[in-house]
Amino acid sequence: MKIIKEGPLFYLHSKNMTMIIEEHSGYLFMKYIGRQVKQYHQSNAVVMKDHAFSGNPYPECREFSLDTQRMLIGQHGLGDFRQPSVRIQHGNNDVTDFRYVSHEIKAGVLVSQGLPSPYSQAEDATTLSITLADTVAELELIIHFTVYNTSDAITTFSEVRNVGKERAVIHQLQSVMLDLPKDDYDLITFQGAYAREKTVRRHTLNQGIFRVSSNRGASGHAQTPAAILTHPTTTDDYGEALAIQLIYSGNFELICQQSQLNDVRLSLGINHENFSWTLEAGQQFNSPVALINYSSKGLNDLSQTSHEFITQHIIPEQFAKTARPILVNNWEATYFDFNRDKLLDIAERASELGIELFVLDDGWFGQRKDDNSSLGDWQVNEEKIQGTLAELIAQVKGKGLQFGLWFEPEMISEDSDLYRTHPEWAIQLPERPHTYSRNQLVLNFANPEVVNYMKKLLDDLLSRHEIDYVKWDMNRNITNIGNGQDYAGSMMQTHQYMLGLYSLVEYLTTKHDHILFESCSGGGGRNDLGMMRYFPQVWSSDNTDAISRLQIQHGSSYLHPVISMGAHVSAVPNHQMNRITDLKTRADVAMMGNLGYELDLNLLTDEEKQAVKEQVTRYKILRPIVQFGQQYRLMHTANETAVQFTYEQRVLLTYVKVLSTYEDMETTVKLKGLEEDSLYCLEETDQLYSGAELMYAGLTMDTPRGDFQSLQLLLTKV
Ligand code: DGJ
Repeated sequence: MKIIKEGPLFYLHSKNMTMIIEEHSGYLFMKYIGRQVKQYHQSNAVVMKDHAFSGNPYPECREFSLDTQRMLIGQHGLGDFRQPSVRIQHGNNDVTDFRYVSHEIKAGVLVSQGLPSPYSQAEDATTLSITLADTVAELELIIHFTVYNTSDAITTFSEVRNVGKERAVIHQLQSVMLDLPKDDYDLITFQGAYAREKTVRRHTLNQGIFRVSSNRGASGHAQTPAAILTHPTTTDDYGEALAIQLIYSGNFELICQQSQLNDVRLSLGINHENFSWTLEAGQQFNSPVALINYSSKGLNDLSQTSHEFITQHIIPEQFAKTARPILVNNWEATYFDFNRDKLLDIAERASELGIELFVLDDGWFGQRKDDNSSLGDWQVNEEKIQGTLAELIAQVKGKGLQFGLWFEPEMISEDSDLYRTHPEWAIQLPERPHTYSRNQLVLNFANPEVVNYMKKLLDDLLSRHEIDYVKWDMNRNITNIGNGQDYAGSMMQTHQYMLGLYSLVEYLTTKHDHILFESCSGGGGRNDLGMMRYFPQVWSSDNTDAISRLQIQHGSSYLHPVISMGAHVSAVPNHQMNRITDLKTRADVAMMGNLGYELDLNLLTDEEKQAVKEQVTRYKILRPIVQFGQQYRLMHTANETAVQFTYEQRVLLTYVKVLSTYEDMETTVKLKGLEEDSLYCLEETDQLYSGAELMYAGLTMDTPRGDFQSLQLLLTKV
């Protein structure tokens, strides 16, 4: 049994991971989470002593306080002074006292209604649902935990039910809360900005509250709804680490509090600052789902655990283990300046070079000649592409390529027929002027009428055309929330927007399940597990410079599998960084993701075309290693990066040196996860090396002289 109730204890066992919850006078305590523990006898129990200024629920027991116990939920107002995870207003206050009522254990995983949720075979997953009730507030709280046989993972979400007769208002409901004992902790977060997404930040925890959040209506470029709690001594190869990730793409908050007793409360959920949810009598609300992963074998093993979970339970099944096509995208090649002939010329070259998918980016619809107009008018501009969309698709397909199309369905331009017909469909505060960003507005997906309109329009377009891939962009964040609603209504609007968005993408991706959707928000502005549940791929940054990508890809590797990440070779000087790098380096870096090209292939010299042809041929051989293999971070400094992928008998090692310095003249890279006594043959030289030799002595990186140089080495186990 994977979930066991023994006396007051619940044991939740995933593959090698255990969580233990105790029921104590109706309170639920979080006794333990970590490496597998099959029998527990309170060895780490909180010392029972009188803590001054910590409230006691029982007058006869001054040693017992909710402020000092490690709780499963944090409720404020009755003596737990730490950051709450649940805050619900009822009557004239927002104090709750949820106590255990019953529980249920079932095979399989549950869906959090309307929200992206992991999938699983019934035999692989078991779910514990614990019901708590507050009889004064007349509310029920149900917390669900799912454990997985094949993964060190637990997923969790909560439901609140209003079982009374009065209205209640949820002000905060975290998807996950973990109370952990005093220790030395580091917290790793993934922050950054536009064009430098997923920067790894490792923070030393001290007493106080550390918070990462988004109020943009999207997870955002500058933060990721995820974190890793670990210890100062933990490295990629050693030590314990616990990751939490939110399967949600809207406003979120991650709160990490080291309390006065130095224990730690870590929680993740919808950002409470600009959210509340009105629950009328009889209504219920579900939180987004959170994912917890654990490893006792270092951060790299934790990463692999998360990659595996996401591939098996988050990325739509039909794409999880399907090789991704090598694409060419016309954005950096033409921007808005194209016509049919220009596009077909690129497609022609792409086909000659072995590329598999042609993607037509922004600018094909309405009167869109720049980014000031036409969002919402999803009719092809037949004048610009000199014919119908169907004709263009047929011409591209005639060249042996698949066809992909860019959309930005959540947006509306003021200069569009849609806005002229439905100005009220834009998110807006009626008595204030619009706030613009890229000169566009956001459609109010909190309004089911708007969502239904888009469902029909996009479904029609996708049904009438042979489209193999969709790039779904989102180029601004949400402001001016209001749309004529009262305050309570406007506080619900961003989450309602997310529910509208999820219902649209679930509908489209289910109905058109052969289409590979790539999510994008000016690059990685919404690179989270919520979107990944529907869209198997993400454009992780608008920054296509190979050197900048090293750090973006490094950050992504902590939690997201490489198969979720598009990576393109673009022109030099690079359009974002103005840097000139060799075509080989650009390709070696992009081949550490799902390879694509984003440049005018017609402008390449014959020599460069030949090089691209060879890269494409080579990537077809390497593709399973990168997309289905295990990833190892071997080295990552400001000047050097080495990444290994292992799949079946083959090992791919990519090494990039940024600047040529005397400091990094002699670098040996130590490989990981090989068989000590097996021999591995290095492709270029046919030299055999033992696994032990490669792992413990390492391999010398003999890079060409000069800046921005790379090596791509393929070894095969013999
Ligand atoms: C932002 C995206 O990240 C780019 O790749 C491109 O699609 C543009 N939008 C188009 O407007």
